[in-house]
Amino acid sequence: MKIFSGIQPSGVVHLGNYLGAMKNWAKLQAENETIFCIVDYHAITVNYPKEELPQRIISAAKDVLASGIDPEKSTLFLQSDVKEHTELAWLLNTITTMGELTRMTQYKEKAAKNEERVGLFDYPVLMAADILLYKAEGVPVGEDQVQHVELTRDLARRFNTKFGQIFPEPKALLTEAKRVGSLSGEGKMSKSDAVNTYVALTDDPETIRQKIAGATTDDGHQSEISPATLNLINLYGEFVGTEEANKFLEQRKAGTIKYSEFKPLFAEAIIKELEPFQKRRDEITDEEVKKILASGAEKLRPFAQETIKEVKEKMGLVI
Ligand code: AMP
Ligand code: TRP
Repeated sequence: MKIFSGIQPSGVVHLGNYLGAMKNWAKLQAENETIFCIVDYHAITVNYPKEELPQRIISAAKDVLASGIDPEKSTLFLQSDVKEHTELAWLLNTITTMGELTRMTQYKEKAAKNEERVGLFDYPVLMAADILLYKAEGVPVGEDQVQHVELTRDLARRFNTKFGQIFPEPKALLTEAKRVGSLSGEGKMSKSDAVNTYVALTDDPETIRQKIAGATTDDGHQSEISPATLNLINLYGEFVGTEEANKFLEQRKAGTIKYSEFKPLFAEAIIKELEPFQKRRDEITDEEVKKILASGAEKLRPFAQETIKEVKEKMGLVI
């Protein structure tokens, strides 16, 4: 299967990104053709510090590489280095309705926190273009992106019906941890929330211990287990296996759980999992990243140009 996914260079990569998407990327690269993209044109649809963006791009690429993406097996590149992404987005805009984009829940959330910008509104069409440009069939993402992948399927089908068969209809590929909750117990883990509500992949051991120690739980006794507690126990299971984590779930059900014992174990499990990642990450230089991104874009350009040519022909744009 041909696989495509992307991550925004928005400063920090956390456990939600890692467990919800990136861990899956590394697994998929063994048996599939895999393409991964740092989506800078998506990141600029909300306010961002422009002085920091170049370093954020490099940092996101390092996170992807350190999570196990091997540039010999996968292609890693920067979205704005292949200009056909925006070209296809425009062409797809002409078959997308306002209603479809107005229904996107992520747009509503982000517009409420930021501004109702045209680029933010059109964000899902650019994402569809990212995927369809390479005729990808599988899109490994977290749950919050499923609606966008479904729009991509709709646009692919619509294009094929209207103008002639070109695009496969891609599917979202989800992990077990498709929605990692925030350490605050409210909503999903997100980098736009306060720093103590997420664990960044680059957090040092002491920071991780402090964040986990401060994570929200219930008091351990009432009959109803709080979603915050359940999220922490499930998250623990991601690192030590469900069987081990279920011991704490049983203790919680019995009202005997001691969070002062659970939390340090949980923190150490995260630290242990992140150690090899952090070691690899420190070894990658900025220069290496730049080379990998440049050769990724160079490799993809001919395919992207070919897709645009086909699309333009089908749409009657070639004389
Ligand atoms: P982003 O950083 O928004 O570009 O997200 C990168 C990937 O991480 C996407 O596939 C998201 O769906 C996924 N993701 C982000 N937050 C979470 C979360 N809290 N739980 C699971 N997956 C997530
Ligand atoms: N919108 C995605 C996110 O915020 C990132 C993204 C952009 C993406 N283009 C993509 C993911 C194409 C998968 C495929 O996480």
